[in-house]
Amino acid sequence: MRRLTGYLGFLFTVCFVVSMVNAEIVSRVVRPSMHFTPPTNWMNDPNGMVYFDGEYHLFYQHYPEDLVWGPMHWGHAVSRNLIDWVHLPIALYPDELGMIFSGSVVVDHANTSGLGQDGSPAMVAIFTYHDEKAKVAGDNDFQSQGLAYSLDKGRSWIKYAHNPVLPNHGLIDFRDPKVTWHEPSQRWIMVLTQGDEVGFYSSKDLLNWRHESDFGKGYGAHGGVWECPDLIRIGDRYVLIVSLVPGGPNGGSATQYFIGDFDGAAFKPSQQHRDAPERVLWLDWGPDNYAGVTFSNTEVEHHFPVFMGWANNWAYATKIPATTWRSMMTLPRELFLFEKESWELLGTRPIEDVDQFMRPQVFGGSNSHVLPSGHAFKLSLTFDGSLNSSATLALSNSHDQRISLELNSSSNDVTLDRRHSGDMNFSDVFPMQVQAKYAFEKKHTQIDFYYDGNLIEVFIDGGRSSITSQIFPNETLTNLSIHGMKLGKVLVRPYQD
Ligand code: FRU
Repeated sequence: MRRLTGYLGFLFTVCFVVSMVNAEIVSRVVRPSMHFTPPTNWMNDPNGMVYFDGEYHLFYQHYPEDLVWGPMHWGHAVSRNLIDWVHLPIALYPDELGMIFSGSVVVDHANTSGLGQDGSPAMVAIFTYHDEKAKVAGDNDFQSQGLAYSLDKGRSWIKYAHNPVLPNHGLIDFRDPKVTWHEPSQRWIMVLTQGDEVGFYSSKDLLNWRHESDFGKGYGAHGGVWECPDLIRIGDRYVLIVSLVPGGPNGGSATQYFIGDFDGAAFKPSQQHRDAPERVLWLDWGPDNYAGVTFSNTEVEHHFPVFMGWANNWAYATKIPATTWRSMMTLPRELFLFEKESWELLGTRPIEDVDQFMRPQVFGGSNSHVLPSGHAFKLSLTFDGSLNSSATLALSNSHDQRISLELNSSSNDVTLDRRHSGDMNFSDVFPMQVQAKYAFEKKHTQIDFYYDGNLIEVFIDGGRSSITSQIFPNETLTNLSIHGMKLGKVLVRPYQD
C-alpha cells in the first residue's frame, strides 16, 4: 500500500511538473490579435500576395506536418482588410518536380497567357520548384520556376502542363520569382534570386521567359544569398528590395534595398556605387523582418505599395518557443520614399487601417501606467530632441522580464534592448541590443510602438526608421514607464484566444 501511495505521489509530482512546464510554455506564446499566424505548424516567407475581387490573398511557405521547416507547401488565407484572415486549404502541394518554394501571384487581366476563361482573368502563380533528391544527388540545377493558375478566385490551382516555365542552367540558388507588369514595355518582368545577385527576365505571356540582365555584383551587402527580391515602382522611381541570409545588421537574416531606375531590362541604382563600401540601406533595423515583398494588383485600392514580411530570423527561426504554430507575419505596411541628409530612402509604416481595428484607452498624465493585460496595444509618443537629448520607454512584467527603447538625439541612435525579455534559452544569439540609426531633428519626433503577441514593431517619425523584434516573456509586458517623451494616444485590441 505504502509503495502504491509512493508511486501515486511520484506520478502526481511528474504530472504537476509537466503541466507547470507546459503552462509556462503556453504562456510564452500568444496568438497575436492583428498579425497573421498559420493555423498550425511551420510558416516562413509570405508568398503570392495579391489583391483580387475584393480579397487579399496571402500564401505562405508552410510545412503542415511539423513545427519546423520541411517539404514546403503553399498555405493560403484570405482577408478583406489585411488584419482579419480566414484560413483556406493548402493551395499548392509538392509534386514530382519538387517542393514548392517562394514565389508570386499576378492577375493576368489581359489574358496574355491564354489561361483565362470566359472573359475572366486567371490568377497566375509563379513559384520555385525545389528538387531535394537532385540536390542530395549533387546536381546543381535542382531549382527551377514553375507555374500554376486558378480560375476560381484562388480556391483551386491547376499546375501548368509544361512546367518548369524557366529551367535552371546550373545555378545552385535560383529561386523566389517575383513577377510584375511593366507598362512601358508591355511585358512581364520577373526578378529572381541568383546566388548573391538577382536576375531579371521578361515575358509577353508568363509562359516563356527571356534573360535580360543581372544586378548585385559590387553593390550592397553580400554576407549571404540574396533571397526573395522584389522590384517595386513608387512614383517614378524603382526600388529593389532583397532579403539576405546571413549578413543582416543583427546577425542572421535581414532585408536591404536599392533605389534607382528600371528601363524594362536592367536596374540601375542611383545613389550607391559599384564596389564603394558606402552605407547599406536596411528596410528594417530589427532582427525579425525577413523575406517581405509587396502585394500585387493593389494600385486601385492603395496609393502606396503594401508590404508584409515574415517576423522571424533564420538564425533561430526553428527554435523560438512554439506549441501549435510557429511564427507570424509583420503588420501590413505601406512603402514610401523620402529624403534625409541628401539620401533618398525607403520608409515603412503600418497601413492606415490598422489603427481602426483598435480602440482608444485613456490614461492620466503620469510616467507609469499599467496596460490592460490580454490586449495588443499601440502607444503613440512624442520625443522633442530640442528639450531632451535622450528618452526611454520601458515595459516589464512581474517576473522582471523587460525590454527598453532608448532614443538618443546626440548620438542619433534608437536602441531596443531585449536582453532581459524572457525566454532566450533556445538561442545564444537571441539576447541582443538592436540599434537603429536615426538623425533626430530639433523638433517633435513621433514614435509609434506596437506590441502584439510576441512581436514589437517600432516606427520612428512616421516609419522613416523601424525596428521589428520578437520577445518571449512568461507573461506579457504590461508595466509601462516613460522618461523624456510624452505619451499620446493609446490604442488596444483584445486577443481572440
Ligand atoms: C527564404 C527562403 C527562400 C526559399 C524559401 C524556402 O526564407 O529561403 O529563398 O524559397 O525560404 O522555404
